[in-house]
Amino acid sequence: LGDGPLAGKHVIVTSGPTHEPIDPVRYIANRSSGAQGTAVARALAGLGARVSFVTGPAQVPLPDGVEVTQVETAREMRDAVMSALPADAVICAAAVADWHVINATQTKIKKDGQGRLPHLDFAENPDILAEISASGPARPPLVVGFAAETDDVLAHATAKRLRKGCDWIVANDVSPATGIMGGTENAVTLITADGAETWPRLPKAEVGERLAARIAQALTG
Ligand code: C5P
Repeated sequence: LGDGPLAGKHVIVTSGPTHEPIDPVRYIANRSSGAQGTAVARALAGLGARVSFVTGPAQVPLPDGVEVTQVETAREMRDAVMSALPADAVICAAAVADWHVINATQTKIKKDGQGRLPHLDFAENPDILAEISASGPARPPLVVGFAAETDDVLAHATAKRLRKGCDWIVANDVSPATGIMGGTENAVTLITADGAETWPRLPKAEVGERLAARIAQALTG
């Protein structure tokens, strides 16, 4: 601690998927590995930031030099992020589930032997990024979201920046053919109020470093 352009700055990073329980042994999840969020957190810590790292059940090792809170559901992730505030920047890299099951059971759901199917009811999860972006006077000066899209990436991500009220969106194409989700490389477009900037396809570690450098510029420049 103490060294680097982000010394004295507090940054919150969300990462990984969330798991939304159906019963004690089953859950709904997504294909996020947590690799990109972990790389961002590691790079920010490398620039001297104090990093609160709030992660769902990821498939990559935890980064060193950060304060880790491990969560399972979107609602737990929201609570962990809110307790970590205030912050100079919040980077929402997690692939948060949009819904949770409201009739999740305390005991394992069994086949009833007559072919009747279980019925799941859903409610919307809190949108952590949108909530922080709209948090009034306590809003962190820099709020960054990710947009994983499978089509029309630029248009959807640009609309998402405005809808969520965040400052930047890091957009990427996660269509299966790209191999990005669960892979080691990422090809992103950084969308700010000034426009869009497409970066070459790079290892996720390098995308993390570039983004951390931009965050340092924005917070100290
Ligand atoms: O709307 P969509 O899920 O595509 O938006 C993605 C961005 O919003 C990501 O930055 C993600 O971390 C954030 N998000 C969130 N809480 C949710 C859903 C998405 O923070 N419930």
